[in-house]
Amino acid sequence: MNGSIRVGVVGAGFFGAMIARACDEHGAFSVTAVADAVPEAAERLATALGARVHGGAEALAAADDVDLVVVATPNHLHADPAIAGLRAGKHVFVEKPLGIDADSIDAILAAAEDAPGRLVVGHVMRAFPGVRRMVAQARGGALGTLIEAAGARRRLVHVPADPGDWWKLDRSRSGGELLHEIHELDLVVWALGEPASVVGVVGVSGAPLAHGAHIVDSVTETVLRTADGALGRHSISTSAHRAEWWFRISGTDASVEADFRAGTVTRFVDGAVVDVTGVFDDDASNDSLREAAQAAQAYNTGGPGPLWMRTAVTCELDEIAAAVQGSSTVLTEHPATAARTALRANAVAAEGRQ
Ligand SMILES: NC(=O)c1ccc[n+]([C@@H]2O[C@H](COP(=O)([O-])OP(=O)(O)OC[C@H]3O[C@@H](n4cnc5c(N)ncnc54)[C@H](O)[C@@H]3O)[C@@H](O)[C@H]2O)c1
Repeated sequence: MNGSIRVGVVGAGFFGAMIARACDEHGAFSVTAVADAVPEAAERLATALGARVHGGAEALAAADDVDLVVVATPNHLHADPAIAGLRAGKHVFVEKPLGIDADSIDAILAAAEDAPGRLVVGHVMRAFPGVRRMVAQARGGALGTLIEAAGARRRLVHVPADPGDWWKLDRSRSGGELLHEIHELDLVVWALGEPASVVGVVGVSGAPLAHGAHIVDSVTETVLRTADGALGRHSISTSAHRAEWWFRISGTDASVEADFRAGTVTRFVDGAVVDVTGVFDDDASNDSLREAAQAAQAYNTGGPGPLWMRTAVTCELDEIAAAVQGSSTVLTEHPATAARTALRANAVAAEGRQ
């Protein structure tokens, strides 16, 4: 416990605990309070970090020793703690996706509008150094006029043998794969800005456990267009035996592409590789990303997480601290664009199925 931004964590599960532990090791934060619907979960994390347990999100948000409320509850339960934090005048970090329905997203944005605190959304991949540089190049004109941004996350998502009543396998609580794993769609809309039109096409959508060992949730292709005529493309699957995980921005002068399975960011001009750098700034984190991305994929399996994920969370905390201090908009701009785009794509896809 060493930094000046005092953190209250709501939701002490897999990712809330990971963020809290990373805050504890980061010079800018100290964790002072923890709340969880399961008292033992709150107690365990609070004890490990020397923090207090609060009965609920409202009490935690109102506490004098909390400057930043971290919301790491399941996806369908982000709105109440986020709004409580914003109404109490605190900065609020909400895990992705901001919400899984339009009403809760609108309610969080309305609370943020008049609030003194900042709303920061957990679009962690924006904070990867290589990705941040790609978008900075695009915005700085280094790629020429933007033509296209595209991203894909396609793999088999394995599930535990006995998952019980796990919210991540329930579309009504997770929002489905497109919302739950919103990362690359967010990068596409972050790079391009608000889409003028969205077309979503679902190839497969079924019961989450239909295939036993892995999730068959949805195979979604989303195509969008901006008012300037740039094109966005996004592809996601939990059922792809040929894995892909990448993000690309193309302009009239060059393309840049992050290949997360290789841990690299490559710049291309006229088909030729001009330079290759890392997704992260250190070799060990890029090696860890490469190793994890090429292994079988499963949602959180417990433990402290691999090195690349801890590095990613540290990069995210750097951006959260900068957002609180008003010196970065990386995680505050377009807070709802990705979630709204996913909802539009799902609606278009549902129409198409009728
Ligand atoms: N950025 C990323 O890469 C990433 C990775 C994993 C999870 N996440 C996000 O983090 C959030 C949490 O996911 P997780 O994997 O930690 O889930 P989890 O199920 O492990 O943890 C959720 C915790 O919230 C608690 N909880 C439930 N309802 C609550 C309430 N009303 N008030 C307080 N606590 C409550 C649960 O008891 C549990 O401890 C989700 O939004 C998820 O999408 C983000």
